[in-house]
Amino acid sequence: MKKSLQLSILEELFNPAINEWTFNGASTRELTHCYHDYPARMIPQIAEKLIDLYGRNAKLLFDPYCGTGTSLVEGVIRGIDVIGTDINPLARMISQAKTSMPSFFALDNSIRHFNDFVLRSQAINLEKPPLIPGISRIEFWFKPQVIEKLLRLKIFIETLEDDNVCLFFKIAFSETVRESSNTRNDEFKLYRYQPEKLKLFNPNVFYIMSSKLKRNRLGLERFVSLMSQFKSTESVPIAKIYGFNTVEGIPEEYIRKNSVDIVVTSPPYGDSHTTVAYGQYSRLSAAWLGLEEPEGVDRKLMGGKIQKKIPRLPSEQLTETIELIAQKDQKRANEVASFYQDLYKSITNVAQVIKPGGFACYVVGNRKVKGIVLPTDVAIINFFSSLGYEHIDTHNRVIPNKRMPLRNSPTNVVGINDETMTREYIVVMRRRRRAGVVAEKQSVYRTQSKKEKTKSKKKRAISKKAKRRSGKRG
Ligand SMILES: C[S@@+](CC[C@H](N)C(=O)[O-])C[C@H]1O[C@@H](n2cnc3c(N)ncnc32)[C@H](O)[C@@H]1O
Repeated sequence: MKKSLQLSILEELFNPAINEWTFNGASTRELTHCYHDYPARMIPQIAEKLIDLYGRNAKLLFDPYCGTGTSLVEGVIRGIDVIGTDINPLARMISQAKTSMPSFFALDNSIRHFNDFVLRSQAINLEKPPLIPGISRIEFWFKPQVIEKLLRLKIFIETLEDDNVCLFFKIAFSETVRESSNTRNDEFKLYRYQPEKLKLFNPNVFYIMSSKLKRNRLGLERFVSLMSQFKSTESVPIAKIYGFNTVEGIPEEYIRKNSVDIVVTSPPYGDSHTTVAYGQYSRLSAAWLGLEEPEGVDRKLMGGKIQKKIPRLPSEQLTETIELIAQKDQKRANEVASFYQDLYKSITNVAQVIKPGGFACYVVGNRKVKGIVLPTDVAIINFFSSLGYEHIDTHNRVIPNKRMPLRNSPTNVVGINDETMTREYIVVMRRRRRAGVVAEKQSVYRTQSKKEKTKSKKKRAISKKAKRRSGKRG
């Protein structure tokens, strides 16, 4: 490595402003955060710090892309009611489990039954592999002995009567499915092991399940002990998890306009087709759990529907960057623009449910397309600003345990092409106190034409004149 590069990495690590948000070496699996892995999970320390800085007296937190519910857990342990939504049913199930508190009496009873079941249950004689809707080639993804054991586990889980206990087992089962499948465990996408590795792969399904139950129970114990600070039933914060798509709108019956104190979220990076395929990651588990639509999630994700024309977006820098990509590859530019159009629509809806004075905290990464860095952090600032929000801060963090960025790359230069995804930006916006009308008006996805702008300017000038005149008279 060249000396200059080493220097820039050292500079990054010793820059206190960046280090403050990096949390190098911190445990990200405390409490119920240990329950389940997920692509591009937010680390709890970020949610924690954001809530402590901007949500001190918050009563309601919303996460429009809640995934496995990191910010929801951090909200409830601080006594805040939380609402999350995600279009991926597996993510919703994990969020639900992480914010639920099964009774230890019922849970321990079921764990005892489970241990007994592992020792005594009889093998099922499978003449042909079972039909699991959503997995067309089951023997491609699971070895026969694994299929048989997973089936026994599934049948055991179906006998559990307590809903919260059942949910707790399902989450442990979901990770067991993934870890005992023939999928490479270090990949979020579905890639089968190489033949030589596959030959040697002989997972102990029951052991995997037992260890997940044990680990998760410990996490739950710590979560419940924190939650015991809320003594009366009324003071226990409520977590609600939905599956609506914020691009299409936010149902009023779930979240009223002007009701949310703080949004803490990490939207998808917009590369769901290529790198972070949430649906693909969840497919095997979702199918075994009988969740609806194990397939098709990736098509519904933001940017899943490609637009034919590049839309107008209220971010000059983003527009110029997309134009640069279009010069290299029009199809990729359309894909990129479709993602940002959905992101803008979603922000338009989110902007309306936040209270005047409330905060929107978005954790984003600036990915590269065709060698060009997309300024998502700036786009988020521009989108919210066009809806009556002010920019409070952008915190910068280096993502530890990943390859370091090669150079410091400010994102306010269009077309800069030497940044990698090893950095995250935490954009904090605040709704202006008298901006209610602005956000409402702009929620219709359309920018004013030049003609319309001149017309409304004239109208404003006329009404100003009229006011001045009536003032003189009065
Ligand atoms: C970066 S992940 C969120 C991770 C989450 N913060 C966590 O800690 O687990 C982004 C999430 O957005 C969801 N998503 C993508 N498009 C969506 C949409 N239009 N509406 C709601 N959720 C969406 C994906 O399913 C994914 O779970």
